[in-house]
Amino acid sequence: VCLVDGTMVAGNGALKAAQELGWEQLAAVVFTDKKSAKAYALADNRSAELSSWDTPVLLTALDELKLEGVDLKLLGFDDKEISGFHYDPKARAKSETLAERFGVPPFTVLDARQGYWQNRKRAWLGFGIESELGRDLKSTTSTEAINRGPEEGGSIFDPVLCELAYRWFCPDKGTVLDPFAGGSVRGIVAAELGFDYWGIDLRAEQVEANAKNAATVCKGIKPNWLVGDSSNLDALVPDLQADFIFSCPPYFGLERYSDDVADLSTMSHAAFALTYKKIVAKSVALLKPNRFACFVVGDVRDGAGFYMNLPGLTVDAFQEAGALLYNEAILVTAVGSLPLRVGKQFTQSRKLGKTHQNILVFFKGNPNTIKNNFPAPQFGAPAEEGGE
Ligand SMILES: C[S@@+](CC[C@H](N)C(=O)[O-])C[C@H]1O[C@@H](n2cnc3c(N)ncnc32)[C@H](O)[C@@H]1O
Repeated sequence: VCLVDGTMVAGNGALKAAQELGWEQLAAVVFTDKKSAKAYALADNRSAELSSWDTPVLLTALDELKLEGVDLKLLGFDDKEISGFHYDPKARAKSETLAERFGVPPFTVLDARQGYWQNRKRAWLGFGIESELGRDLKSTTSTEAINRGPEEGGSIFDPVLCELAYRWFCPDKGTVLDPFAGGSVRGIVAAELGFDYWGIDLRAEQVEANAKNAATVCKGIKPNWLVGDSSNLDALVPDLQADFIFSCPPYFGLERYSDDVADLSTMSHAAFALTYKKIVAKSVALLKPNRFACFVVGDVRDGAGFYMNLPGLTVDAFQEAGALLYNEAILVTAVGSLPLRVGKQFTQSRKLGKTHQNILVFFKGNPNTIKNNFPAPQFGAPAEEGGE
């Protein structure tokens, strides 16, 4: 802002910065009378005096500019001021994103395709988790299941989802019960975060492989796996008092894990439903009052192409056992090879390409107690606040 003769009225800093950046032209507001110019200059200085920084917004802008290579001193901030902003914990707390505060934004759509999720997953897998060990599937009825690799959100359990479930829904250092343990991920992530994990699985080879993997990965607390039929959970772990139930059951017969008649994946639909409800009821009986349970389930189609409704069966099983539905979220998984397959599938049968699983969270007790028993979740680098 200047007078017709070029005398500066306001914007000296902007002019200096433009000159230092080598700009040769700058748009200006030009006053023709001195009285208006003087009034504008006073108002301009006064409004700067009265204003204050929105620190979180300022910090984000400074961070972005710094990343782009801009010298922040050119903007008029000296080192002391900048480091003062950065080390002000209050300012930092306010500027945290939802992903920084809670690991990922706590919405009902959890998107495993996002960069923040993938980065965290890489960090977890860097620990040496080998969940595919011990899996020698007898058969699978679905090409989808065969085609899903570890990166496609299929059978290999997502360590980021584990971390979220534990940090969001399990009290600090609590006991976790997993009646369909499968691979090592849920156990290793639990142990690394300082939880006392108890996983049950029918297959001895799976439990052995898990224990071997945990022995090389877990430096401190070790997860516990037991071989057994979870229909006998009360006899297998009679004294267990769980703070959290977390599991991923067989999706009917989508993947057949063994020839054992007690294996849910070998059962007819009716037998599956009965045994599944029995296992859920025994698990919920071992859950302390005022605690959460979380099952990750996907749905499967029957021979005629209709969904068998595993999410619905799971909700019924928990509600009948006394734990009511509290959160229901969709886990959006990587599409993998789905785009190559979905065209033919959709054209011939109008079946949508499935690229999600259901996260069902139940609560046993009175939700008014949650604020007292579950302090704000803490998030750092994976396992930063963990066991050892
Ligand atoms: C869907 S898998 C869990 C796999 C999981 N997605 C993973 O790899 O991390 C279900 C597991 O339940 C086990 N299972 C089936 N019937 C069972 C039963 N009656 N008692 C205990 N475990 C059982 C199977 O052996 C299988 O490992």
